[in-house]
Amino acid sequence: MATHTHLGHIFHIAGTPKVTEAAAALVSIPDGALVLDDGGRIVFCGDRAEIPSDYESGTVHDHRPGFLLPGFVDTHIHFPQTYAGDSYGGGQLLEWLTLCMFPSETKFADPEFAQQAAVEFTNRRISAGTTAAMVFGSAFPHAQDALFTETQKAGLRIVSGRGIQTVGGETAQPLMTSEEDAIRLTREEIEKWHGADTGDVATALLHVAIIPRFSLSVTPETLKNLGELYEEVRDRGVYVHSHLNENNRPGTGEVDSTKETYQVNSYLDTYDGKFLPGSEVGGKSLLGRRTILAHCVHCQDVELERMAETGTSVSHCPISQLFLGSGTMPWKRTVASGVNISVGTDFGGGDEWLIPRVLGDAFKVHITEAGDDGVSMHPAEMLFVGTLGGARALDMENRFGNFDVGKEADFVVVDPSGTPALDGLLRNAVRAADPDLARDQTLFALLMGIRDTSISEVYVAGRKAKAS
Ligand code: GUN
Ligand code: ZN
Repeated sequence: MATHTHLGHIFHIAGTPKVTEAAAALVSIPDGALVLDDGGRIVFCGDRAEIPSDYESGTVHDHRPGFLLPGFVDTHIHFPQTYAGDSYGGGQLLEWLTLCMFPSETKFADPEFAQQAAVEFTNRRISAGTTAAMVFGSAFPHAQDALFTETQKAGLRIVSGRGIQTVGGETAQPLMTSEEDAIRLTREEIEKWHGADTGDVATALLHVAIIPRFSLSVTPETLKNLGELYEEVRDRGVYVHSHLNENNRPGTGEVDSTKETYQVNSYLDTYDGKFLPGSEVGGKSLLGRRTILAHCVHCQDVELERMAETGTSVSHCPISQLFLGSGTMPWKRTVASGVNISVGTDFGGGDEWLIPRVLGDAFKVHITEAGDDGVSMHPAEMLFVGTLGGARALDMENRFGNFDVGKEADFVVVDPSGTPALDGLLRNAVRAADPDLARDQTLFALLMGIRDTSISEVYVAGRKAKAS
């Protein structure tokens, strides 16, 4: 067998733990070897001295003294906001959407602009080591075609769908469609791109999601029609993505506005088929193992329980929550509900492309939560939500997310010498005498210190991702 052996200090979260079990599942192999077969699957992950003799003759890629980490999974990022990070002049969520985002996203109506943005977006993903992503797409089908085409060229994984809007103010008009077109365009995107690269969703890198922007951008009729469409395509592994309980600024917040508009008991009810007044059932549920809801900052316990029960995942986006003044997702309460937690950059609500930057801000916001809610995240929990938890949110944990034998090898090579500050940190740090704590300290330093310049190579299913 023609194998490829990658050498470096390996960190990953082995097996199928919950986030609460991540610390016990953390694997660190300082003199590590990751051996891939010619199909890009992992056949060995362990100490270099213990590589089975069958694999000794393969090609060796020596990344030492670098690190090998599972590829980062970003479960919430906006393609049509590629050039809209750091937008000033919008304030909090609803005003920011109206004044900054809708006008920015309208520029994607120009096919040349959209094409250039698809190249930029894909290149940014490679620089950030984001091997898999749930991408909130553009309203414009030509822009989505460009996004899928560029992603396929680069060799990255993607789940994406056009952002659906059927109601809104003046600046939202160019992004809106009729009720019929909302369903027709979504259906066409599924037929064109879902599993299109291999013709089989079980092996594909390209997948499609149904993406109502959020409940305030659609109508009960849209939600009913999308529920019916989802019922038809659920078995084909199609995804659902949206925002939930993000911002609750008194008076103008999204959460209260949604409950008032729909007259429902909870925001989640609108995605759960219960979008009629009094949370009466009006259609089919959009929840399930292939559904990811971004933010979940202001959830009621019943909402978290229902998400856990249906296998729906949270995409936690602390950078964006800081940028838009949305608050902090309560870590302990969300974890206690049993819901799966992954992380997203939410670029351009967030102003960073790198998942490790999201993990750094997650650490800071959760240690700052009030009183007994404050918690010092374990570095293994940080790595979990940025890798394996993301693969689980995408319902592809059986394919990637860690270095278990048999998985498709998605990984990043971290070369600290590309980032002098990180290099200095690792070389000169004081480490605990306890080897487990010393290991955790090194992983923490790595996750806090990684920048684009530290990520030297990015692999998806054993193949090196190519920037254009
Ligand atoms: N809610 C509806 N649309 C958006 C968006 O573009 N970004 C964020 N952060 N929240 C949203
Ligand atoms: Zn978002």
